Amino acid sequence: MILPIYVYGQSALRKPTEEIGPDYEGLKELIDNMYETMYNASGVGLAAPQIGLSIRLFVVDADVMGDEYEECKGFKRAFINPEITNKSQETVSMEEGCLSLPGINESVSRAKWVEVRYQDENMQEHEEKIEGYAARVFQHEYDHLEGHVFTDRISPLRRQLIKNKLNNIAKGKTACRYKTK
Ligand code: NI
Repeated sequence: MILPIYVYGQSALRKPTEEIGPDYEGLKELIDNMYETMYNASGVGLAAPQIGLSIRLFVVDADVMGDEYEECKGFKRAFINPEITNKSQETVSMEEGCLSLPGINESVSRAKWVEVRYQDENMQEHEEKIEGYAARVFQHEYDHLEGHVFTDRISPLRRQLIKNKLNNIAKGKTACRYKTK
């Protein structure tokens, strides 16, 4: 089932999120719905706050970028209760977009790699080092669980320059080809 994606201005994107346990009702179905919603919108990641749920869960599938970024090949995961246990001092700046901020693309500085711990859709525990563009996707989605969107991480000057665009999204004035809320 395709779910509406909450856009910039919705308080759900800013709320604290809670960890979930194996008894979380309908978890498998929820994850399926999140993948379907993400693919429908041509995204490579979708976090629970973007569909109005304040829980620590996101899905990614960056395989489509595999030709350009080797590390994205097969990078399809559900991350439940993820933690960043270590990250590189070295950062890389690259352009990002977000399904909750249609029409906005800005350069964001991110750690080059992250070491993470998380549970998968079967609640199996994993530890993984994620690098390159895959690390960027992870950090972007992880930010959503912390109530951040990528424009929080751009310079005040850049944010001022896109202020009208952001306001238009919040006012529902931005056209979008997928269902939003
Ligand atoms: Ni996003």
